[in-house]
Amino acid sequence: MTARLIDGKKIAEEIKEELKTQIEQLNKIHSLVPGLATVLVGDDPASHVYVNLKIKNCQALGIASFNHQLSAETSQKELLDLVHNLNADPAVHGILVQVPLPKHIDETEVLLSIDPKKDVDGFHPFSLGKMVIGEDTFLSCTPAGIQQLLIRSNIETQGKHVVVVGRSNIVGKPIANILMQKNPHANATVTICHSRTPNIKDYTLQADILIVAIGIPGFITADMVKEGVTVIDVGTNKIGTTSTGKARLTGDVAFEEVSEIAGAITPSPGGVGPMTIAMLMSNTVKAAKLSIGLKPQDP
Ligand code: GUN
Repeated sequence: MTARLIDGKKIAEEIKEELKTQIEQLNKIHSLVPGLATVLVGDDPASHVYVNLKIKNCQALGIASFNHQLSAETSQKELLDLVHNLNADPAVHGILVQVPLPKHIDETEVLLSIDPKKDVDGFHPFSLGKMVIGEDTFLSCTPAGIQQLLIRSNIETQGKHVVVVGRSNIVGKPIANILMQKNPHANATVTICHSRTPNIKDYTLQADILIVAIGIPGFITADMVKEGVTVIDVGTNKIGTTSTGKARLTGDVAFEEVSEIAGAITPSPGGVGPMTIAMLMSNTVKAAKLSIGLKPQDP
């Protein structure tokens, strides 16, 4: 392996240590305990794992968590009523409705019902619109985590060609927008490719920074990348179970062969995943601060 490993786990721990200090200060100076409400509808096993991880992280950092687990048969109205109650609850600074939601529920309507001041997932169209026009807002956690990985690994984006593979609302579209913004941690030229892009390799070979979120294990192979590229692998694909019954996960990048050519690379798992959680915690602290008139950077 020649590529430098971008250790998302370690960087996420650094961020969480910083947050812990900020939370202690909020307790001490303002008697404020940041609070996150999680809403999980149905029995999707992966969603349960993710939400439990979010709850555990809240506990470790001193964030209060309010957990709502609803049956798969929950009606649209019941879910909207819960969100309205959470909107009105002063102890709740952030609301996270885990997606995907069951098919009979209109996801857009639910996300629209969250108070944008509590939209720590950054999925509300109001937050997304502000992001597009370069205003301060809650950035969705995975793209915000990718930007932090680049910043904290000293990987320059300014003037670079970023190629994003994948166009989802929660990764591809927002990360492309974030990195094209006119600011020092962005200023990249961005190309988006997706499952219907013909000759995708023609684009990936041009990337200085390649961000892959297409959901196909090992999709990016060594012949598709240029020497020295930075590769951010967002994929977490389940490819079976371990002897202890845990899910075996792998990324969208053929890690072994691509790391012979890349300059820097994230592993998956252990790259972007831990950063998503760290940014959710960070957005929750930000929401709590804003709720009492502080600025995000205030102690
Ligand atoms: N499903 C997959 N990733 C996420 C996430 O970051 N937030 C929520 N709410 N649901 C998800």
